[in-house]
Amino acid sequence: MQSLCGRISNYFVTSSARRIADRRLLAGRSCSTSACVPEIAGYEGVADHGGLHGFSVAQTERFWGAVARSRLSWNSPFHTVHDCDLSQGKIRWFLGGKLNVSVNCLDRHACAFPNRVALIWERDEPGSEVKVTYRQLLELTCRLGNLFRRHGVKKGDCVTLYMPTCPLAVASMLACARIGAAHNVVFAGFSAEALADRIRDAQSSMVITVNQGVRGGKVAELKKTVDVAVQSCPSVKQVFVALRTENPVGMTSRDALLEEELQKEDVVCEPAAMDSEDVLFLLYTSGSTGKPKGLVHTQAGYLLYALLTHKYVFNYHDGDVFGCVADIGWITGHTYTVYGPLANGGTTVLFESTPVYPDPGRYWEMVQRLKINQFYGAPTAIRLLLKYGDQWVQKYDRSSLKILGSVGEPINTEAWEWYHRVVGGGRCSVVDTWWQTETGGICIAPRPSDPDAVIVPGMAMRPFFGIKPVLMDKEGAVLSTNDTSGALCIAQPWPGMARTIHNDHQRFTETYCQPYRGYFFTGDGAYRCKEGYYQIIGRLDDVINVSGHRIGTAELEDVVNRCRWVAESAVIGYTHDIKGQGVYAFVVLKKEVDVQEADLVQHLKDMVSKSIAKYACPDFIQFVPRLPKTRSGKIMRRVLRKVVEHDVDGLGDLSTLEDPATVQEVIQGHHHLFSKTHQQ
Ligand code: WTA
Repeated sequence: MQSLCGRISNYFVTSSARRIADRRLLAGRSCSTSACVPEIAGYEGVADHGGLHGFSVAQTERFWGAVARSRLSWNSPFHTVHDCDLSQGKIRWFLGGKLNVSVNCLDRHACAFPNRVALIWERDEPGSEVKVTYRQLLELTCRLGNLFRRHGVKKGDCVTLYMPTCPLAVASMLACARIGAAHNVVFAGFSAEALADRIRDAQSSMVITVNQGVRGGKVAELKKTVDVAVQSCPSVKQVFVALRTENPVGMTSRDALLEEELQKEDVVCEPAAMDSEDVLFLLYTSGSTGKPKGLVHTQAGYLLYALLTHKYVFNYHDGDVFGCVADIGWITGHTYTVYGPLANGGTTVLFESTPVYPDPGRYWEMVQRLKINQFYGAPTAIRLLLKYGDQWVQKYDRSSLKILGSVGEPINTEAWEWYHRVVGGGRCSVVDTWWQTETGGICIAPRPSDPDAVIVPGMAMRPFFGIKPVLMDKEGAVLSTNDTSGALCIAQPWPGMARTIHNDHQRFTETYCQPYRGYFFTGDGAYRCKEGYYQIIGRLDDVINVSGHRIGTAELEDVVNRCRWVAESAVIGYTHDIKGQGVYAFVVLKKEVDVQEADLVQHLKDMVSKSIAKYACPDFIQFVPRLPKTRSGKIMRRVLRKVVEHDVDGLGDLSTLEDPATVQEVIQGHHHLFSKTHQQ
């Protein structure tokens, strides 16, 4: 067999030649700050982040054209930088260009430095990490790509992954990209029903899973969950099962053992030449209706945006070890565990465990052992860990750390200060990064290119290149002054944004492009301070953020209302010390109920775990005789929220209520539930 590099080298002669040419074109333009973007250095007013950012939004084509040409390896060049009309939900970048995402993430690095570590798999069992080099990851990806092809997966198909964070999962994602299939990673904490919904919507013919997951020392029956799910998914023809534990697993004629099959495959796999706008992956997320939406991300724009944000927001340099502890089942895992770091030829940590296993020092012991330089985590974990005390952090050497990132929800001042002072020893920059599944990558962050910029605690602050945030008032007018709050929109398209909702473009335009016509609506509210920096306030729609995971109240109500004893329900989010938000359900029962209240509470919680996931379970279920409604029959959620937040003075105008007595009923029931809970 010809050597790996020999066989693939022809593949990117043209693109690397083009990159060198690009650099030559730019030679001679000096860069006044160490962090500036060399491709556009020397253009008017680009000496600092403000200048670079201004240039990127004013001269979109020049900015994105230059970075796309120099940072990605193309099979054939694009002829048009973008063709977008946000009001129609039409978003297309790098038209005419062809490339392969796996080549950009693997081959070019495997050729340049085959023995560089690409992945460090931080297994659940501490101290048992596994390192995978670029060459090994490329070979694994190729074997998987060949296997998928041999089983009929074609360009345009979608493979569902239900796996823990591990090298096989990353290689499976990249193998899909290699052969032109889309992947659909479903968080391994989702229930069989939620998994089945996503497989059916994506119409996957293949599912990849493991016999059992291991997290926090506990075993999760992933294969059994897949067995249940695929019973209602006629599209699935093949399930591949990798072995994460040594326990036996029941197999059917539809199943095959992944590692065994891989041995039969060649380590070279011809990459498909993909159009920039072909689908790279679907990722389901909750919205304000009952049905989760499969957001669609495409090839070139997503990858470029992942690469650039990873490089600049975290000031990532060659040789750094990047530790994003998000699960690959969420967008953070996609963009900052997999695509961003690998596109930059970086070393990325795959964290399989939990922050408190085997004890609350896990993160920092790992930082010491793996010498992590950038640590990227969620405020909910920081809030949890700070309660255990500083000693769990101080036990370990954290001198490798340079940047501490935060994502998923607002980071409160106490958590920010602790992260900065205790974890970072006051030495590391804390970057609070705001973005969404829809945005593909970070949109607002404190230091999107200037490592010396001032950071204000608890604020995401500055827009990334190409991002033009605007705040809207209730009437849909742009708020132009500072020291003001409004609905956060983004005024022009950027390469990393989602293109559509799988099978439902109308929902995409209605949700994101029409509320403020011609702008991308994020669903979040934000405050712009006197200095012009942004602070995210939270969701404006009926989406709750539990431990950084989105869950729609309508989705929860759909499940609760399915219970035969329930007449109707209203679910809201309330402030929770650790989780950020918790779930609180108000439930109206039918007349004839022949079960005990406590049993019913447990039954409803079980229903939510079974239909969605454990993390979505209500913390409180309050039975009420009726819900406060307007005369037109709409539930007054605002009233319910105020009651739960103990702000009865702030109930506001109740004149539209059909029967104001309902409010007193809700308040009394809430006090009763609370006093009962505290007595327990
Ligand atoms: C919230 C996660 C405040 C926000 C990457 C957003 C944040 C939703 C922050 C997206 C932050 C994310 N500060 N809120 N730094 N980052 N959010 O799709 O409400 O899982 O709309 O993407 O999380 O969640 P998603």
